[in-house]
Amino acid sequence: MELQSSISFVYFTFTAVFFLFSFSLYILRLKPYCNCDVCTAFVTRSWAAEFVNLSDWYTHLLRKSPTGTIHVHVINNIITANPDNVEYMLKTNFDNYPKGKAFSVILGDLLGRGIFNVDGKCWRFQRKMASLELGSVSIRSHALNVVVEEIESRLIPFFSSVAGNGGGGSLDLQDIFRRFSFDSICKFSFGLDPGSLKPSLPVSELESAFDLSSKLCAERAMAPSPLIWKMKRLFNLGSERKLKESIKIVKTMADQVIKKRRETGSSSNNDLLSRFMGSISDDDYLRDIVISFLLAGRDTVASALTSFFLLLSQNPKVVTKIRDESDRVMGVTRETLPGFSDLQKLHYLQAAIHESMRLYPPVQFDSKFAKQHDVFPDGTFVKRGTRVTYHPYAMGRMERIWGPDSLEFKPERWIRNGEFKPESAYKYPVYQGGVRVCLGREMSLVEMKSVALCLIRMFDVEVVNPEQTLRFTPGLTATISGGLPAVVRPR
Ligand code: HEM
Repeated sequence: MELQSSISFVYFTFTAVFFLFSFSLYILRLKPYCNCDVCTAFVTRSWAAEFVNLSDWYTHLLRKSPTGTIHVHVINNIITANPDNVEYMLKTNFDNYPKGKAFSVILGDLLGRGIFNVDGKCWRFQRKMASLELGSVSIRSHALNVVVEEIESRLIPFFSSVAGNGGGGSLDLQDIFRRFSFDSICKFSFGLDPGSLKPSLPVSELESAFDLSSKLCAERAMAPSPLIWKMKRLFNLGSERKLKESIKIVKTMADQVIKKRRETGSSSNNDLLSRFMGSISDDDYLRDIVISFLLAGRDTVASALTSFFLLLSQNPKVVTKIRDESDRVMGVTRETLPGFSDLQKLHYLQAAIHESMRLYPPVQFDSKFAKQHDVFPDGTFVKRGTRVTYHPYAMGRMERIWGPDSLEFKPERWIRNGEFKPESAYKYPVYQGGVRVCLGREMSLVEMKSVALCLIRMFDVEVVNPEQTLRFTPGLTATISGGLPAVVRPR
């Protein structure tokens, strides 16, 4: 008995000492003693007296920095808005900037080995397979069919019922676009319809569980030390208990769909799951892959559409130009839905959507971790283990990249000789760029253009307070705190 209690004592002491030692090492690496202006403002949150969002403060600092790069020592984070650095980390020296363990551990419980959350061989395999699938004509036309069906059967009827016969009615654009994109990405990825945009706007169990999981994972990233959430997870406490429960709901639903599909066979389905089933026999792996797609394609599209309609409310002339262009290309019948070839001819619409994401990128910043010491093209020394962030939100607001009118919403800046002209992905890394560029770019553009065009042609959509200063809730994708209320009238 005495021996047993001695062993327990030694074990407990060893664990406590080890914990304290690791914690001290972690804290020391972060340079908590740094008292430079930026670190002091970060720690005391004094920046919040002048800026609404952390991203706005970073933008201010990056604009002032001669190199377009800053270092927040207390969190060991280099942040850059310099296109040369962005190209270097995403393409030239890609292998030195993986997502890293610190990131994958945060999303690991939800995403497992899914493409979004892995590096190296596992990522390369999924990337190759997913690029082949997403590039195929059949999957692209399946994606368009899913979107068109959701627009015709749910989005337009919902807007029509709110708009009434002329008096108009109000709705929260952000909520509706989130429901729309969730239904669409679930149908596209798994062939599952959560029905979240049905007329009664039901609370879908899958959607709530998925939202809560991604929100709580994002909160992990904001904890002052990962040890805090890891301890909570170990003892199954508070937010970690809720996270575990919500992840269980998401995974169970995905497992059920996969099981059923294995029983019925995948040949009659065109969704991503069926395509991947042929090459992957491990159902847990298959589930992780599909869940990554849900995360990648859901909030991003909803976020882009929400800020697009905000900018349109501030710039009614752009709405007129989009309507004129679509009347020229598709004729004046407003109910006609655009096909692939129409969408390709709508250069002004394409420009307006790109311009909107320049100012409000759905992924405002994105981080990697340096594997080895390195030096960025602007001369910044990058120490091994440093978190390195490129910042599309700040980049869209840099005069040195976009000129003195960088804060203005001007779709024309994307048009040359009447045609849409893309910009370098490193100047505009909204879809990332380089080796790991977004795989859903084309699909998301088709989705956003189709939705925007139908609504703009059939309704007048006015955001209730278009000049408001936006406050974003911290998370993986830009989400407006309190939503975006708007009034809708039939045209
Ligand atoms: C406006 C819409 C979208 C934006 C702005 C966007 C942006 C991004 C960004 C910034 C990344 C890099 C994230 C990172 O590595 O941390 C990414 C990756 C990815 N996106 Fe998108 N995305 C959009 C829509 C979509 C859609 C609809 C899909 C699915 C069909 C999708 C699939 C993916 C996938 C699979 C990756 C991971 C690629 C890899 O790691 O190799 N995205 N996206």
